[in-house]
Amino acid sequence: MYFSEDLIEEIRLQNDIVSVISGYVRLQRRGSNYFGLCPFHNEKSPSFCVNPGKQTYHCFGCGAGGSVFSFIMQYENYTFQEAVHLLADRGGISLPQEEYSEEVRRERDLKTSVMELNKTAAKFYYYQLRSPQGKRGMDYLKNRALSDETMKHFGLGYAGPDGTLLYRYLKKQGISDQLLKDSGLMQVNERQGMYDKFWNRVMFPIMDINHRVIGFGGRVMGDGKPKYLNSPETVVFDKGRNLYGLNFARSSREKYLLVCEGYMDVIALHQAGFTNSVASLGTALTSQHATILKRYTDEAILTYDSDEAGIRAALRAIPLLKEAGVSTRVLHMDPCKDPDEFIKAYGADAFRERISRAENSFLFELSVMEKSYDMKDPDGKTRFFQAVAAKIAGMELEIERENYIEAVVARYQTSYEGLRKMVLNTLMQGTPARTASRSTVEREHRERDRRGEKDSGILKSQRLILTRLVEYPALFATVSACIRPEDFSDGLYREVAAMLYGQLENNQVNPARIVNHFTEPEQQRQVAQIFNTDLPTETVGEQEKAIIDSIRLIIRHAMDQRKAALDPTDMKGLQDWMTESKKRQDDLKGLHISLPRGKE
Ligand code: GTP
Ligand code: MN
Repeated sequence: MYFSEDLIEEIRLQNDIVSVISGYVRLQRRGSNYFGLCPFHNEKSPSFCVNPGKQTYHCFGCGAGGSVFSFIMQYENYTFQEAVHLLADRGGISLPQEEYSEEVRRERDLKTSVMELNKTAAKFYYYQLRSPQGKRGMDYLKNRALSDETMKHFGLGYAGPDGTLLYRYLKKQGISDQLLKDSGLMQVNERQGMYDKFWNRVMFPIMDINHRVIGFGGRVMGDGKPKYLNSPETVVFDKGRNLYGLNFARSSREKYLLVCEGYMDVIALHQAGFTNSVASLGTALTSQHATILKRYTDEAILTYDSDEAGIRAALRAIPLLKEAGVSTRVLHMDPCKDPDEFIKAYGADAFRERISRAENSFLFELSVMEKSYDMKDPDGKTRFFQAVAAKIAGMELEIERENYIEAVVARYQTSYEGLRKMVLNTLMQGTPARTASRSTVEREHRERDRRGEKDSGILKSQRLILTRLVEYPALFATVSACIRPEDFSDGLYREVAAMLYGQLENNQVNPARIVNHFTEPEQQRQVAQIFNTDLPTETVGEQEKAIIDSIRLIIRHAMDQRKAALDPTDMKGLQDWMTESKKRQDDLKGLHISLPRGKE
């Protein structure tokens, strides 16, 4: 659905950035700005700044920034469209009715109904657990060392031995059989008709990242089979796309997420203070999971069971995470089976210590590989190192290969030169295909870095001018006489400059509107950065000088670029260039900048 810029602007006006962000971050006024602890990186002193004048935010620590829309996108992990919906709701603005087909609308309504029904069921189980009939469930959970608070936090419940209790309860509320079927809460069989899917189990509601109940897991209170019963896939429940505990873990301030196997592991870890743990829902980790994890973190620590199955699961998860750009370490739980047992046996501090010693995923893979070679036999050992070399040769970056060669040498006490040559040989013979997507991304990063180094001075000057124009629109006449939007060297900057010039010509400076013009979060971040360039410790005189210097630099750079783009045989072009260059030098001669002198 396309929303016009006017509508976006109207929504923005109804959502003052300070008031919106205050709902998420504790802000304190400092001068004309508000400061708080940045929600996007871990910090102890506030460098997250919200500017009510510009209606933007910017973190001086991690560089996050943007408009009220980008904040919601970044914080809630929403798309631009979703952020528009949220803020329109909040501002009481109705969006134009989207033209949905009958089918799409029906599916959306069904999703809403199923989620409402799930919530009703979750409440029902929740009260059952706390009623006298729920004693068995309560005893079981207490016996597993869960506190009342933890049970409440995770909304744990109980389905009693009567297999039609929930069915009858929901029927009394007038819920149709069709909806009951669609919800996955019921089972149908010819003889008995419809009855509860879950009975005689403790119940774990499964929530999506917005705390909406999308399904359930139920555990037998003892040794029955199956140990866990999960909701079937429904219109709202997709095991491949959801992670248990992520609704809480997403707002944990740790840099990494702990990924484990079971519900009970997540709950025990959260109870012990590791609120950054999640689990897949009784299935192996999928590449979709990996992509979702990447939204929240760059590093995962796998805390899978220490048994054979857990090791296999880790080996499968590592490449998926790597592909998604998440680096992985593996935590060793021995002598315990899983995190839940470990915490119970050794406590949170010991677990924290294990986290700090978690093993690099590559070395973990090697230690598993090692087992299939006879390391006492020279030939076996050689074959092992050949396999290692092939793995290293598959890495994209030379520095990465170098680092891993060193790590392997250190661990296996082998010869550095020998292994290096083996890797080189493998590389020469051609290596297993590297994924194109990843290497393209990496190449882009490298290029951007290189450009960044060379251009940072000139870009900074351009940012400074744009920031100052917003702050002091009176400078526009002087600045625009010397610099045109085309003089800005980067495409994004050029576009921003053109929009800002347009606003200044109409006396309607509105940086947030410019930020919102861009829908990619990365662009929004950059644009917000453009408008938040500051050299905080200067006197007014120095600031004026910095503006003049920047103008000179921008013009010189623009003229240099134009000359470089000329065909050397193009005499006419060269002549024009010289004339223009001379004129622009003259423009600069009388350049005088004067900023208002208030209290300094
Ligand atoms: P506890 O025995 O309660 O501590 O559970 P656990 O989390 O240690 O269980 P386990 O390691 O056996 O299983 C890990 C996860 O796999 C569970 O949390 C479930 O999501 C899933 N799972 C385990 N057993 C079953 C089963 O019988 N059926 C299904 N569908 N899933 C299961
Ligand atoms: Mn367990």
